[in-house]
Amino acid sequence: MMPNIAIRDLTMEYSSGGYAVRPFHHFDLDLATGDMALLLGASGCGKTTLLSMLASLLTPTSGSIRVGDTEVTGLKGAALAEYRRRTVGVVFQAFNLIPSLTAQENITVAMRYAGADKKTAKRRSAELLEMVGLEERMHHRPRQLSGGQQQRVSIARALAMDPPLIVADEPTASLDYMQVDGVLRLLRELAAPGRVVVIATHDERLLPLADRVVELTPRPADEHRAPERVELQPGQVLFRQGDAGDLVYEVDAGRIEIVQEMADGTEEPLATIESGNYFGELAPMFGLRRSATARAVTDGPVVVTGYTLRDFRARRGANTPTMHTPPTRPADESA
Ligand SMILES: Nc1ncnc2c1ncn2[C@@H]1O[C@H](COP(=O)(O)OP(=O)(O)OP(=O)(O)O)[C@@H](O)[C@H]1O
Ligand SMILES: [Mg+2]
Repeated sequence: MMPNIAIRDLTMEYSSGGYAVRPFHHFDLDLATGDMALLLGASGCGKTTLLSMLASLLTPTSGSIRVGDTEVTGLKGAALAEYRRRTVGVVFQAFNLIPSLTAQENITVAMRYAGADKKTAKRRSAELLEMVGLEERMHHRPRQLSGGQQQRVSIARALAMDPPLIVADEPTASLDYMQVDGVLRLLRELAAPGRVVVIATHDERLLPLADRVVELTPRPADEHRAPERVELQPGQVLFRQGDAGDLVYEVDAGRIEIVQEMADGTEEPLATIESGNYFGELAPMFGLRRSATARAVTDGPVVVTGYTLRDFRARRGANTPTMHTPPTRPADESA
């Protein structure tokens, strides 16, 4: 019986071309057994990163991921291998089937690797292929199967050891609309009591099937929300480079310093924002992550107010030029 999933205070930082990229920063998420959860969000928002951490293929910088009673981030050696083989089933976008093996062999090989005996592997793989509607295609190799059929073999393989957690990365991305239907229904059936299915996708067709939708992209800038007043202690960070950000801030009292964090742990000062001025407009304007860190200067308390871009424009008038120029990045980093 399994698993509730609890993600706490999760931070993942990559170093990219000398800059720190932080798709997750103090991120929390709970998923209940039986849930089918969708991770939605623009390219680069961190969907694959989160699935990889759930599958223990990637270790977060800090924070905790509990799957049932297992602390995934602390797994090593035999316990890690056991988790990957038996607790989590992974469905990749590109199927990752072995081309020289038949559909059935692709499944039995994975099961043998996970410790199943030959007889069990043969029986179970046949059952699974029947379940995904491929009983006639058991002895075909991947190239003799359509994209949707390959995807179903890959799902059957992920299910082979009956893992309580399934993670699927863009499972419908390589499928045409005729093939999507069957794969969607299959994924939906998987999310039953005792199992959690987490799917990363751009595909809004999956929305009606989901119990949970986890939106990893910041909320749209063109909405109205109550302004957010924040009091900061000296030196306290308001937002960090790499965070998702949807508010523009005005300094009401004190001063804010903007610094660029470098991958080697050093930082470079970019600007100091005085009372009455604003900062943090780039991320909401362009749907980007914070390109720098904002924190209160160390010599006194600071008060800022955050506005959505729409509200900010309404306050300041239509022409809201940028106060400080965006930090320039090397050309190959701008994408
Ligand atoms: N190995 C890596 N090294 C450096 N940066 C990385 C690495 N992997 C991912 N990133 C960065 O982390 C962020 C999240 O990437 P991720 O692949 O998780 O996004 P995604 O939501 O899956 O995107 P897509 O929808 O395009 O698949 C991106 O800014 C990406 O550039
Ligand atoms: Mg991805």
